[in-house]
Amino acid sequence: MTRRKKLYEGKAKILYEGPEPGTLIQYFKDDTTAFDATKKAVLEGKGVINNRISEFIMTRLAGIGVQNHLIKRLNLREQLIREVEIIPLEVVCRNIAAGSISTRLGIPEGTPLPRSIIEFFYKKDELHDPLVTEEHITAFNWAATQEIDDILAMTLRVNDFLTGMFSAVGITLVDFKIEYGRIYEGDFSRVILADEISPDSCRLWDSTTNEKLDKDRFRRDLGNVIESYTEVARRLGIMKEMPTVIQGGITGGAS
Ligand code: TMP
Ligand code: ASP
Repeated sequence: MTRRKKLYEGKAKILYEGPEPGTLIQYFKDDTTAFDATKKAVLEGKGVINNRISEFIMTRLAGIGVQNHLIKRLNLREQLIREVEIIPLEVVCRNIAAGSISTRLGIPEGTPLPRSIIEFFYKKDELHDPLVTEEHITAFNWAATQEIDDILAMTLRVNDFLTGMFSAVGITLVDFKIEYGRIYEGDFSRVILADEISPDSCRLWDSTTNEKLDKDRFRRDLGNVIESYTEVARRLGIMKEMPTVIQGGITGGAS
């Protein structure tokens, strides 16, 4: 095990100091929480699967010009990333009604939305991540108008790309949550995609059966959480090396 400085520990990930200035190491834990961490479990192997799925998606997004923080995956649980100044927003993009939009607006789960809808939530667990508007975001200086425009445009590109990518493997992208951060280049700053994209942060339904293949299996006690995440990875064609790893038990990961 390497000894290094822990900078931040979140609910599902840990950030360590990186090997060079401007870099960090993002470690994926097996810890799983829902409803502001009032529901908790350790799902063995989840961190390994999410690390791999997120790497795959971020790499593909970089390939179509969506800049993101991933530099490279280092091992089973860790990736080397660029250090960013996190914008305190959860950016949710929805194609089909589910979860909080269904309860908030009374739209039955599974109803296709007339168009993709982007919502912003202020990242503050104590306040239960409230829905906010662009007025709040600019008034409180969480992001500038130009940054919001960039975030909206990038989020729609991510949605189009992921919708196609998942649809090709028989999965419907119902919604997802992403986060952005700022990087500074001289006098300028730029917004890039950060955090992770995995079954923890998306709603993914089997296109034929509508079976849920995401964290709602945990939130709603549907069982087979890891099996479903594994199925997503398998369909994306990135699971060849994983089953033995999971069967063999995963303890640390840092190497
Ligand atoms: P919601 O329907 O609960 O607002 O969730 C929308 C999407 O955002 C869904 O794919 C789950 C994801 N999400 C997170 O990744 N983290 C969160 O804290 C919440 C509330 C939702
Ligand atoms: N509320 C988040 C979720 O359900 C996680 C959490 O807050 O612990 O995805």
